[in-house]
Amino acid sequence: MKVKPIAADRLHALLRAMPKAELHMHIEGSLEPELIFALAARNRMDFPYPDVDALRRAYVFDNLQSFLDIYHAGTQVLRTEQDFYDMARAYLVRAHADNVLHAEIFFDTQTHTGHGTDAGVVIRGLHRACVDAAAEFGMSASLILCFLRHLNEQAAFECLEQAMPYREKLVGIGLASSELGHPPEKFARVFARCRELGFRLVAHAGEEGPPAYIWSALDVLKVERIDHGVQAMNDPALMQRLVQDRIPLTVCPLSNLKLCVFPTLAQHNLGRLLDAGIVATVNSDDPAYFGGYINENFAQTFAALGLSAQQAWQLAHNSFEASFIDSGLRRRYQDRLQYTFETFS
Ligand code: HPA
Ligand code: ZN
Repeated sequence: MKVKPIAADRLHALLRAMPKAELHMHIEGSLEPELIFALAARNRMDFPYPDVDALRRAYVFDNLQSFLDIYHAGTQVLRTEQDFYDMARAYLVRAHADNVLHAEIFFDTQTHTGHGTDAGVVIRGLHRACVDAAAEFGMSASLILCFLRHLNEQAAFECLEQAMPYREKLVGIGLASSELGHPPEKFARVFARCRELGFRLVAHAGEEGPPAYIWSALDVLKVERIDHGVQAMNDPALMQRLVQDRIPLTVCPLSNLKLCVFPTLAQHNLGRLLDAGIVATVNSDDPAYFGGYINENFAQTFAALGLSAQQAWQLAHNSFEASFIDSGLRRRYQDRLQYTFETFS
């Protein structure tokens, strides 16, 4: 679709109003400090920060690992099916307010089984929130189980085994946690098994790690999308591959800023990825920790990079193209996107 240029203030209203899909967010990263303290009280647990403000003040990171350490502390308060429901419910309400029509939600079970919580408790709670959001808001949401790459292959196989009774509640499998030193090929066999089982496959690669990790996510794990992938820009042959095969990148600008992947948003490469013809999307990653939900990511990134209404349409269109919804629903969502742009003035 050819989009006419519009004034900056109207562009910001359009970014908020446009229908979009969110494809890269970790549900445990949507736990706001207020909910962390409420769940700690409900579960009669101590939490190692005195109050909400002290916890928020600790959200200063210098790389992925420094974030993951605090993020894991937050997950300690999640114990019951209702806790997982309430966390996902809060995110879905928030995403609906940002005109997210469809969300693909990352979660992991290994963190929680490590705390003595059954995988079924996690999956049932999250899935019920997705079902309720569909009924109440008319939005669609599905779940992607991520293996933790700092743990070993055997642990990933056990995680898969524990999730199999809930197979129908999951759309796909992903790979998250500490990237450097844990290349995708470490999980070659378990991803091959997931592929046989019919799961859709994604992996974090090229957030902090080198382009080689993106190559092996594609060629060894055979994933369909790359989470982050911003380091691809350093490898022209890889860029050509991503463009030719229309491999989407789920880019998370505020995450990249907070984890020091780029020193400022003005230096982010989202605009250059789009100019190169990459199927890029905008996502929030861990919105409670990185300073904003999806519309905040759009607003700040467009302001910093001076992106256009045409690029806004492209990013939203890409988000539906890159999603794992069926073709009928994709067409309906993309029609709504087109209608929004045609009637916006
Ligand atoms: N990268 C890797 N693992 C994660 C992230 C991330 O940005 N957020 C939550 N787990
Ligand atoms: Zn992520």
